[in-house]
Amino acid sequence: MLTVILKKEVEGVFVDQFYSFNSVLFPSRIMNASGPLCTWEQELNALGESASGAIVLKTTTFEPRAGNDRPKYFENEWGSINSNGLENLGYKKYCELIPKLKRFNKPVISSLSGFSLEEFTTMVGALDQAGADILEINLSCPNIAGKPQVAYDFEMSEKYLHTIRSTTEKPLWVKLPPYFETIHRQEMARILLKNEVNGVTLINSLGNALIVDPEKEQAVIKPKQGLGGVGGKYVKPVALGNVFTFSQELENKIPVIGVGGIYTGMDAFEFFLCGAQLVQIGTAYKSQGPGIFARVQGELNELLQRKNYARIEDAIGKLKVVEGEEYGFGA
Ligand code: DHB
Repeated sequence: MLTVILKKEVEGVFVDQFYSFNSVLFPSRIMNASGPLCTWEQELNALGESASGAIVLKTTTFEPRAGNDRPKYFENEWGSINSNGLENLGYKKYCELIPKLKRFNKPVISSLSGFSLEEFTTMVGALDQAGADILEINLSCPNIAGKPQVAYDFEMSEKYLHTIRSTTEKPLWVKLPPYFETIHRQEMARILLKNEVNGVTLINSLGNALIVDPEKEQAVIKPKQGLGGVGGKYVKPVALGNVFTFSQELENKIPVIGVGGIYTGMDAFEFFLCGAQLVQIGTAYKSQGPGIFARVQGELNELLQRKNYARIEDAIGKLKVVEGEEYGFGA
């Protein structure tokens, strides 16, 4: 599944390998998450020029969408809440942009969400033809009123993935929401294996959460009465739990792409320990901009050196069971 191909320098940070997943070459295991700052051409070019290991596009829909009313994004020291409402240019425009993005020589990953199975298959066919290297099927957008997340309906997810799988040979990743019960993680892992998906991105934001401003006695965002998807530090333990369980259930047959609360190289390292092969950054990319990818990569490299790991591969999936005394405060 994973082959080390050659050495390369990216933006002055030594990224010591190219990685091959699904026969696609990645210059780094750290990339942006579909969501913030990946909708407009200028943002996508900035990702191309950055140390991001791929250009992951904002989830596209069949028609262009203006998205929800503002304010629809808020961030504090623990993370973010968004109810963007799938603001995007529509798949036809992304089909025009994708060939141009290939000049950056890194994978172009096109995220998509249809409001019907037919919309999904039409978009998959067109984005495949346009040259997307990987298609990320988003079954977990929480922000469209009256459209529940497909990924919480296992029967529907299976039907969708079965049909989508039969329409393309391109690598298919599936973006999932957090699951809180082991049997739900096991059931979804079974569906992913059965339908031969090539990657699973965990986790999307925690849907229909609420952040309150107690002074003003109001929610901090406007759409859906203030309910939105929460990301950032708030969600990291939930993300790690999902990455850990799915990695075990998928038995290394499908790579896990970890996302949720990565701000530092140490955060990324935790995801690798729990079994992630690649990681994505959302909230912290939104607040810090495209320089974050080189910074997190540099911090990860330093951490690996300090811990005497020659390569990140040696740490992937190596989380140990705790032994000895209980952790005290500050441990
Ligand atoms: C949006 C939010 C998501 O979490 C997602 O997966 C897709 C879209 C949004 O509101 O635009």
